[in-house]
Amino acid sequence: MQKYIRNFCIIAHIDHGKSTLADRLIQECGAVSAREMTAQMMDTMDIEKERGITIKAQSVRLTYVKDGQPYILNLIDTPGHVDFSYEVSRSLASSNGALLVVDASQGVEAQTIANVYIALENNLEIIPVLNKIDLPAADPERVKDEIEHTIGLDCSEALSVSAKSGIGIRELLDTLVDKIPAPTGNEDAPTKALIYDSWFDNYLGALALVRVYDGAIKKGQEVYVMGTGKKHEVLNLMYPHPLVLEKTPMIKTGEVGIVVLGLKNVGDVKVGDTITDFRNKTKEPIPGFKEVKQFVFAGLYPIETDKFEELRDALDKLKLNDSSISYEPETSAALGFGFRVGFLGLLHMEVIKERLEREFDLDLIATAPTVTYKVKTTKGTVLDIQNPSQLPPVNEFEEIQEPYVKATVLTPTEFLGNIIILMNNKRGMQKKMDYLSPERVLLEYEIPLNEIVMDFYDKLKSVSKGYASFDYEPIGYQVGDLVKLDLLVAGEPVDALSIIVPRVSAQTRGRDFVKAMKEIVPRQLFEVAIQASIGTKVIARETVKSMGKNVTAKCYGGDITRKRKLLDKQKEGKKRMKSIGKVQLPQEAFLTILKID
Ligand code: GTP
Repeated sequence: MQKYIRNFCIIAHIDHGKSTLADRLIQECGAVSAREMTAQMMDTMDIEKERGITIKAQSVRLTYVKDGQPYILNLIDTPGHVDFSYEVSRSLASSNGALLVVDASQGVEAQTIANVYIALENNLEIIPVLNKIDLPAADPERVKDEIEHTIGLDCSEALSVSAKSGIGIRELLDTLVDKIPAPTGNEDAPTKALIYDSWFDNYLGALALVRVYDGAIKKGQEVYVMGTGKKHEVLNLMYPHPLVLEKTPMIKTGEVGIVVLGLKNVGDVKVGDTITDFRNKTKEPIPGFKEVKQFVFAGLYPIETDKFEELRDALDKLKLNDSSISYEPETSAALGFGFRVGFLGLLHMEVIKERLEREFDLDLIATAPTVTYKVKTTKGTVLDIQNPSQLPPVNEFEEIQEPYVKATVLTPTEFLGNIIILMNNKRGMQKKMDYLSPERVLLEYEIPLNEIVMDFYDKLKSVSKGYASFDYEPIGYQVGDLVKLDLLVAGEPVDALSIIVPRVSAQTRGRDFVKAMKEIVPRQLFEVAIQASIGTKVIARETVKSMGKNVTAKCYGGDITRKRKLLDKQKEGKKRMKSIGKVQLPQEAFLTILKID
């Protein structure tokens, strides 16, 4: 019965204890004995564990008995990174309430605020929860004030808990049952279910995790996915219990469950889409469905040129798994055949590159990430440019527009100066500065996305000793005074190293770029010039001196096996190199630009 169901999610900043709390709730509901608990059960992918970030939303169905009455608690997990904000929004749309978990020894962070706003837009009941009160540094009163000040949420009934030691967990469960409203769907209406997560399982194919709004989904039913316009048969249905997936003949109104449709492609069950009955369709799909948009683009090239087809196969397979990437073939004079791949953000890019290398055994070169520029040509057309080397010659376009974001930064006041300098260097325009308390400040900036795509996050962390937090959302395009900076190695332009930069900083960037490259380009048997140019004008130059020494000379020409070993070793080293004309460049040369200011 719907009135005994509670659908909720946890909103928390990274490291504030979301996974620990989720584990604790699972344990408290008796779903898993303490012995069966492996650390961080909610995180399932390897890469996720290593990075400590929840990438794909997972959910669990728990039973909690209050005053003799069993309740079904569906804990809807949300990804914890800005790259996956659309998935977060769909998870929140599936919930009726949210636990706002804030580390009582830290305070409100940028991402927490962004997610609370989405929760409020979805009319969720928000329960503030102060975690880590076992820590001596915990200051729940200060943090409550902060929540009230930043978000305007009444904290008089906020709960204090320790997910680690178990303090306050029972009260939390009781409060959750009392305060979070039960779902209110119409059981007699046609099937209407929101896909709020989907992923690929090697045995079962593409799986959709749904929240049923109206009616029910039944095994054997012919369903219709409204966004794709495709009909499928429901092969199986499951409830997501923490340790096992329990088969069920039906997922009822208000419930959460996994739908198996026997599909090979995750793109057929996209997050945000609506599932309905094929014969008795619901009138309107659940609002808010949108195709995810790639914000960051980079070229991916196999180091060994004959691996192009393998890379294509790998991308085809990954796409079945993760429909949020896009890719199309491109050629580079320097790197040969590869793909321009679109990602949701930088983390997403790292994850995909790592998966391609790890799961498909490919050695790849990634070019510096870039955003989509809009270029207005003299002929009046507007080009979308995702690769700097495609920028038309200067006399063929009128203006370049670049995407901007609204960035929110929260920091302890002691780092305020550093952060303002950083934001200025990155062309940020300050829109707001708000003291949340004498110790903490909230800043809002409008800033080009490209500046963030580079290494902004690492820089922010380093100038704030890791204390500042950050979130962003796109706000559209603005005209920029931008130029293309080319890099020449031994007189040859290397197209894969071209970047688009603001005219005012082109000179400095060019100089820093050639300096950084000088450190990376290994010495060759001849002198190598490294130059930066704008159009035909060279603006900076460095020279890599020649090696002038034969490495095998050491062997005195005597021992042939030793000589061969040395040559083999050199060859091994070369595998990770890419020949550009006569020069060998190591893999990391193509990301050098990320390392300079
Ligand atoms: P992401 O998965 O990265 O988003 O982080 P998270 O919010 O899930 O945080 P996680 O549960 O991984 O906890 C982060 C760290 O805080 C871990 O080292 C936990 O052991 C610790 N932690 C969580 N809850 C508590 C608590 O109540 N008290 C103390 N002392 N430490 C806690």
